[in-house]
Amino acid sequence: MTEARDIIVIGAGAAGLMCAAAAAYRGHHVQLLDHANKAAKKILMSGGGRCNFTNLNSTPADFFSDNPYFCISALKRYTPRDFLELVERHGISYVEKEPGQLFCEESSRDIANMLLTECEWAGVTLSLSTTIASVTAWEQGGYRLETSRGSIEADAVVVATGGLSIPTMGATGFGYDLARQFGVNVLPVRAALVPFTFSGEWKTRFSGLSGLAVPVEARCGDGCYREPVLMTHRGLSGPSMLKLSTHWREGEDIVIDWFAGQDVLELLKQARAETPRRQLQTWLKAFLPHRLAAAFSDWYDMGGTLAALSNAQCLQISQHLSAMFLKPSGTEGWRTAEVTLGGVDTREVSSKTFEAVNQPGLYFIGEVLDVTGQLGGHNFQWAWASGVACGRAL
Ligand code: FDA
Repeated sequence: MTEARDIIVIGAGAAGLMCAAAAAYRGHHVQLLDHANKAAKKILMSGGGRCNFTNLNSTPADFFSDNPYFCISALKRYTPRDFLELVERHGISYVEKEPGQLFCEESSRDIANMLLTECEWAGVTLSLSTTIASVTAWEQGGYRLETSRGSIEADAVVVATGGLSIPTMGATGFGYDLARQFGVNVLPVRAALVPFTFSGEWKTRFSGLSGLAVPVEARCGDGCYREPVLMTHRGLSGPSMLKLSTHWREGEDIVIDWFAGQDVLELLKQARAETPRRQLQTWLKAFLPHRLAAAFSDWYDMGGTLAALSNAQCLQISQHLSAMFLKPSGTEGWRTAEVTLGGVDTREVSSKTFEAVNQPGLYFIGEVLDVTGQLGGHNFQWAWASGVACGRAL
């Protein structure tokens, strides 16, 4: 038997749930399909289980895309305040951790349940554990899906299958394959918001400091972030590294200022003049965690008193501390990345409706598109904004 719907949304994640509810509230018969056995899995695991669901300071400048103007329209039409209003209407308590970053006070489950409730109220038919074997378009308009639940026909198909990160959570390249099938260009993808890995002596060094977090300033390409770095068994993580990973390309160096913008040379020379008999390592411990100060002394043979340091040595030490060049061997990849950079080329999608320009009735929303937000709630804001913009246009 073939079921008939106005709209099929593929992917019951952040963008798909939002879009399905918005379209169903407009009176459409909407079927939301997902191959996973549970909806909103990434929402549930996000923000350490408390979902950083938006960022009040989100602007188009917080997003990466080959076509940076594309995201402006949707972000303007559905703002962080709009989503917050929905959260408050559902009585969900939240906290602002960093400026603008809103998290659930209790659990990410609150956001997932809110979206499922909205879908239920709007009359969305949700089908989980449903695999899609094929999608075909008719010449006269409309689509037919062959699924594990049988055939489904619809006037429009919305692709909300997200990116490639965390395959164990159900991530697939289905959306990219579908785009290519219908002649929509897909830009190269890579893992982002992901920790760096190191090999050789740096892996051993960071592994020995595993668990230590230090505020630093870190640079790579045009990215520069003053946030903590976290040493891990395989390399470096923490907000500064996750953010930097969006700028990093294979083979490039990252640069770490362990003094986070302070003038190390000036501080060192001043200390040498004022407290010449002090040990260099003791001086270092006034600025860095003791374990890291001890490690630095070991790595760079920093023994002796400050008085024993020549100007050239002061300069060399300050360079190690304020501009340490490091070459990651790679990243942790899709296994732990929060997002995917690249994806469906937004030049081939309407920024108003999210319909593919050359394929009427086929829509792309959320992370499957080449729009990636920076760490801090921006990615969910994109999922909400693109989902609502598309749902209201259907
Ligand atoms: P999403 O991935 O949410 O949904 C895609 C859906 O499509 C899934 O349900 C999947 O099962 C389904 N699907 C895939 N292939 C399919 C197929 N072949 N057939 C049927 N269904 C298919 N962002 C943020 O702003 N704040 C945060 O706190 C975090 N935290 C965070 C933590 C971790 C660990 C990760 C991995 C990611 C985050 N993110 C985040 C990023 C955020 O989760 C992400 O950007 C959004 O979930 C993207 O929403 P989408 O709806 O586009 O994809």
